[in-house]
Amino acid sequence: MKNVVVIGSQWGDEGKGKIVDWLSDQADVVIRFQGGHNAGHTLVIDGKVYKLRLLPSGIVRKNKISIIGNGVVVDPWALLEEIKNIREQGVEVNQDNLIISESANLILPFHKEMDEIREDVAGKGKIGTTRRGIGPAYEDKVGRRSIRVMDLRSESNLDKRLENVLFHHNAIRKGLGKKTFEKNKLKKDLLMIAPEILKFSQPVWLKIDEFKKKNKKILFEGAQGILLDVDHGTYPYVTSSNTVAAAAATGSGCGPNTINYVLGITKAYTTRVGEGPFPTELADNTGEALGKRGKEFGTVTSRKRRCGWFDGVLVRQTIKISGINGIALTKLDVLDKLDEIKMCIHYELNGKKIDYLPAASEDQFKVKPIYKTFPGWKTTTKGVRDINKLPKKARNYILAVEDFIGAKIVSISTSPEREDTILLENPFDL
Ligand code: GDP
Ligand code: IMO
Ligand code: MG
Repeated sequence: MKNVVVIGSQWGDEGKGKIVDWLSDQADVVIRFQGGHNAGHTLVIDGKVYKLRLLPSGIVRKNKISIIGNGVVVDPWALLEEIKNIREQGVEVNQDNLIISESANLILPFHKEMDEIREDVAGKGKIGTTRRGIGPAYEDKVGRRSIRVMDLRSESNLDKRLENVLFHHNAIRKGLGKKTFEKNKLKKDLLMIAPEILKFSQPVWLKIDEFKKKNKKILFEGAQGILLDVDHGTYPYVTSSNTVAAAAATGSGCGPNTINYVLGITKAYTTRVGEGPFPTELADNTGEALGKRGKEFGTVTSRKRRCGWFDGVLVRQTIKISGINGIALTKLDVLDKLDEIKMCIHYELNGKKIDYLPAASEDQFKVKPIYKTFPGWKTTTKGVRDINKLPKKARNYILAVEDFIGAKIVSISTSPEREDTILLENPFDL
């Protein structure tokens, strides 16, 4: 039996949703283990588009169990809205197919406000967050003052917990000249939706143990990408959770030995939303063309994604950091029309050659990418499902990427559609 973790190997939006949806055909359980509704995962099934933020991508499949783990920060209103929207698209969501960890921490309205206040005052120094309150919610979690799903069970307990967390937030708000946050209205609003959330809540660690005993296949669905990891990413331009594969264990309540295979999702070029260093960024017509063909607009905030060449140095690094066993290469078709295609193979920093992204932010902004150039194939690969039907030049590019990054490419995605995927090795069968 194999349990698989799917994570993004770049700055997010690599196409994790599509690959998780595609793989979930073979899984019994799909678990989100970190992040929140900063994630935006797009699935296209028979031409119908589903946009998911908090719900695991397995939710659209019949007879699968979807779990929101303890490592996820849950905005309860955003979750209820997402459930409503996906139900309107004909997807079933009920207590049999959705479980929310009772230990998951809540994102509350003052978290979102704090995120916005900070971004607004930061000016040029802003992170470019999704303004969903992700950072402030994780801060309260490690600050041990967070409200968790289970706290919605009792009014007196909720009252105490809110008193405690607002004591902290209101001191900061006063310092910033903002209105203090009123407890009673928030408590009333939370108690009103509490039954809707609590009916899905269970001890997830116990369920996972049961699933393991029954030999169920588990797919862990990462959000964001390794370069947005709070420890290993381009700090401080990162999100506030660990996005690496190891977080799947802590973020759901199982041991690291539950994870048998780490699948890294990698775009055939690079994109980034928000601020921060991006060595291979293309601020020219090629960058524009990639964005247009790849439809690179954020699912969550509709921001235009910054686009650039494939950065082999970065992906080679994230493969090592996260223990990636195999790569699912996505969006190959976006490169179809280009005359030439480039891959970054090392950097130059202060006149010296380096083979990895340095940890200091100021150096990350300074590195100059050095490229290897490949001829474009200039023919369509859209919808190709057989490796032998890919143009030779496209196969050469894929082999060169594989060779450079040092991990096997196990699948290639050639359109947003679920079935337009070339399978070379099935992670669940390995
Ligand atoms: P995620 O956050 O990693 O799940 O990725 P997003 O859903 O935010 O962004 C990926 C986008 O690329 C979505 O619009 C997908 O429908 C689309 N997509 C995924 N795979 C492919 C592919 O192979 N080719 C093309 N053209 N689009 C793809
Ligand atoms: P998926 O799962 C791309 C980025 C934001 C910002 C930084 C911090 O769809 O790949 P946050 O709101 O998390 O505090 O913002 O992280 N970011 C993402 N970029 N894809 C995502 O998720 C992202 N989630 C957060 O743009 O730069
Ligand atoms: Mg996304």
